[in-house]
Amino acid sequence: MDLQAIKAKISALSAELHLHNHAYYVLNEPQISDYEFDMLLKELEQLEKAYPSLIDPNSPTRRVGGDITKKFEAKAHRFPMLSLSNSYSEQEIIDWAERCQKALGEASEFVCELKYDGVAIGIQYQDGALVQALTRGDGQQGEEVTSNVRTIRSIPLKINDNAPKDFEIRGEIFMPQQNFQALNEQRAAQGEALFANPRNTASGTLKLLDSKEVAKRGLDCYLYGVHGVQNLSNGHFEAVQKAKDWGFKVPDPKLRMIEKTTSIEGIMDFIHYWDIQRFTLPFDIDGVVLKVNSFEQQEQLGLTAKSPRWAIAYKFKTQQVETKLESVTYQVGRTGAITPVANLKPVQLGGTTVKRASLHNADQIQKLDLCHSDTVQVEKGGEIIPKIVGVNLALRASQERIAFIEHCPECGSELIRQEGEAQHYCPNEQSCPPQVTGKILHFIGRKALNIEGLGEETVELMFAKQMIKSPLDLYHLTFDQLLSLERMAEKSANNLLQSITASKQIPLERVLFGLGIRFVGETVAKKLAQAFKTMTALSTASLEALLLVDEIGEKIAQSILAYFSDPENLSLIAGLQAAGLQFEVLQKELQSTILEGKICVISGTFETFSRDEIKDLVELNGGKVGSSVSAKTTFLIAGANMGPAKLQKATDLGVTLLSENEFIKLISQ
Ligand code: IVH
Repeated sequence: MDLQAIKAKISALSAELHLHNHAYYVLNEPQISDYEFDMLLKELEQLEKAYPSLIDPNSPTRRVGGDITKKFEAKAHRFPMLSLSNSYSEQEIIDWAERCQKALGEASEFVCELKYDGVAIGIQYQDGALVQALTRGDGQQGEEVTSNVRTIRSIPLKINDNAPKDFEIRGEIFMPQQNFQALNEQRAAQGEALFANPRNTASGTLKLLDSKEVAKRGLDCYLYGVHGVQNLSNGHFEAVQKAKDWGFKVPDPKLRMIEKTTSIEGIMDFIHYWDIQRFTLPFDIDGVVLKVNSFEQQEQLGLTAKSPRWAIAYKFKTQQVETKLESVTYQVGRTGAITPVANLKPVQLGGTTVKRASLHNADQIQKLDLCHSDTVQVEKGGEIIPKIVGVNLALRASQERIAFIEHCPECGSELIRQEGEAQHYCPNEQSCPPQVTGKILHFIGRKALNIEGLGEETVELMFAKQMIKSPLDLYHLTFDQLLSLERMAEKSANNLLQSITASKQIPLERVLFGLGIRFVGETVAKKLAQAFKTMTALSTASLEALLLVDEIGEKIAQSILAYFSDPENLSLIAGLQAAGLQFEVLQKELQSTILEGKICVISGTFETFSRDEIKDLVELNGGKVGSSVSAKTTFLIAGANMGPAKLQKATDLGVTLLSENEFIKLISQ
């Protein structure tokens, strides 16, 4: 291909990927599978790798980040970024609406919107492409966070041809609650300090220097204002809906996220609706925003020093109730971390019954100066789990302080608390029940060894019956043993054993992740596997060697050293190796010739392996991978959601279909 043709190919691939990105992240209507998307992206990545000079700063490949910012530069806003006056009082909102109408001397339309609880952003587009993104800063100058904003998938890098050539769009970047919870769970598992709420986390994330990290955190964005376009429409509501046609994620009137009304009753109805319904949204809002719709009327009303007269925010009161503390219990996590939990007299709050609140750690209990049977104030903020924010001292019944336990509630071991750490730990890793079952559950998890057919209850039951004490015991389970469990039928026992066998093909990096070494998450496990290639090399690596690996710092390195110096861990590792797990990065050398002369086509999505892993396995067993079904195809390795056309063709040609399990069985022979 000549350079011109490559340019054209890159541009066609990019356009296609932008389109699918929009379908997925803005419209919520994906048109192709994740796999097909990944394949297109990979193709583009490869072309860009070969021709770096052709990389567009708005290429779909930029979504994963990579740019490191040294310092966020201050840049002037083209239009000042104003703030809103706000109020907690409905009467003040009524007064505001009446004031507007009086000043205008005529009726006006109001737009009611959600007040997203995140960080304001102003994004410039020129000739159809994103060119700059600034935070609010002091309203006159903001910080340039363009590389980080490019990783947010609901923000288009390229927009439709019908958009104006030069304009700014403003909106709010936020972290959906689900991503916030997942991030905190991951941090808890790695012993890192938890983030307080989605808002602060979104704000902190946007200022991370490494855009790759930003890309991983799953920020999202709604756009709520168009600036710098003349004669776009008469009103704000219409302008925002036009932005939707250009490719932006804007609030949906069908979901009442934005609404026009001409009456004060209409405004109040919107406020009352969202005061209740806000808890059903997948992201936080802290109020609603009311704006005069007509641009002409907005101009007429003008601005005060800091905020426009044509808009106001109504803020919801944080819902708070008082209830009685009944007891404090302590949960033991997989890593041995102890979390105190307040058990409360059940009380209604924000549409749900609250019975429990997390107390986080000993410092939190001390800060609240919590006593037995205290009446506590419970608040539901952005977090799903409510928190205790204070104690009603007037109602204090007992002076007896809540004393943090000294021994593990599950196994009785004396707890430890290391210097500089907020959490207490139970050191009895090897036999404290929730730690053992937690570790087994982590080991069999989807991202680790992906052993299916074992839920939490069954693992606990098997542990109680002493059938499993460590992940290693899974590999010595027998059919009869499994049948002896209540509710385990022949079929499920067989499936479980099959899944255990299949896990022996899982690559080293996932085995490493599954071990649950403190601070060794998915990414770190991958880096370690790539760097050391074998479990033996890793387990005998020196501190210096560990520190040489990308992304491995002192804390992680020490944790790895500690893990591999514990004799119990070493015997687990030796056992797993003997059981036949992958202890080496799959070298590209033949494992068998069972597929020699056979052509396999891979289609659909799989449970145990990724598509790339299946492809590797075909090749490692002597087979060839074909791209489409033809008369030469031997096997069609069929995952879920395979296209019906492909299936029909394979059936017509008499190609043998293999399920993922059948394929694994075949190569494990
Ligand atoms: S309009 C002049 N609309 O609230 C109007 N702001 O102090 C400027 N916000 O910094 C903003 N949701 O970050 C507007 N639907 C919405 C909003 C919204 C959240 C934030 C924004 C702004 C702050 C107002």
